[in-house]
Amino acid sequence: MDQPATSGDLKILQLTDCHLHHDPDKSLLGINTQQSLEEVVASILASGERPDAVVATGDLVHDGSESGYRRLARSLALLGAPALALPGNHDAPRVMERVLGAEGIQVCGQLEIGNWRLILLDSHQPEQEGGRLAPEELERLDALLEDDTHHVLIFVHHHPLPIGCRWLDRISLANGDALLERVRTHPQVKGILWGHVHQSWEGRLGQAQLLGTPSTCIQFAPGEDEFALALEPPAWRQIRLQADGTLSSHVHHLHSLPLGLAVDSLGY
Ligand SMILES: [Fe+2]
Repeated sequence: MDQPATSGDLKILQLTDCHLHHDPDKSLLGINTQQSLEEVVASILASGERPDAVVATGDLVHDGSESGYRRLARSLALLGAPALALPGNHDAPRVMERVLGAEGIQVCGQLEIGNWRLILLDSHQPEQEGGRLAPEELERLDALLEDDTHHVLIFVHHHPLPIGCRWLDRISLANGDALLERVRTHPQVKGILWGHVHQSWEGRLGQAQLLGTPSTCIQFAPGEDEFALALEPPAWRQIRLQADGTLSSHVHHLHSLPLGLAVDSLGY
């Protein structure tokens, strides 16, 4: 998918881990995930933000239901920008591709926009919580990076390196090193962004920023060995891309925690 070059900074939004259900009234650990996503979208619109693209980075529908993906598409459409999505461990990739594709949302693939190329990778493994990039997915990445004159952002669901939460680091991207090695050897890659960890995480590898983004519903506590929730409101990441390859980003939260969060939950 190609977009015409635009002048000025590009504004990209990352929304992740929406965990919608077939039943729009269903909650996850006490939070209505549909309502939480709608509040995030309303807050973005109220801020006057008009993105050039929106990227949804997995665990979009907790039960993989068609109706969940249809409601996700409706929410993303309100943002008025090309939308792209990739699967997380909770998604049903075939359903996702069929339903979102019919709504004009690209699943995985890549988007050229101005001087930048956004590359979306599929790390989903059937029946597994952890992720892995299949050999053909790495080959696709290699082909896109070869002789590329664009600045590059890579999006993937699972985190490619440990973030200091032992329980989450057991279900990370199993071959994250293969991705990080490509970043080391391709200076045009300016960032890797992921979901999955339900918390903000920021690091660096050479020229590239490494960015974990919190969920549009529940958040996990940083630095914990076992599952623990954080008392953090739903969130999203706003990314600014300049023509010279400069990347800046900021995580925005709703002002308050949604009612009902089951703070003593032992898992999800
Ligand atoms: Fe998630």
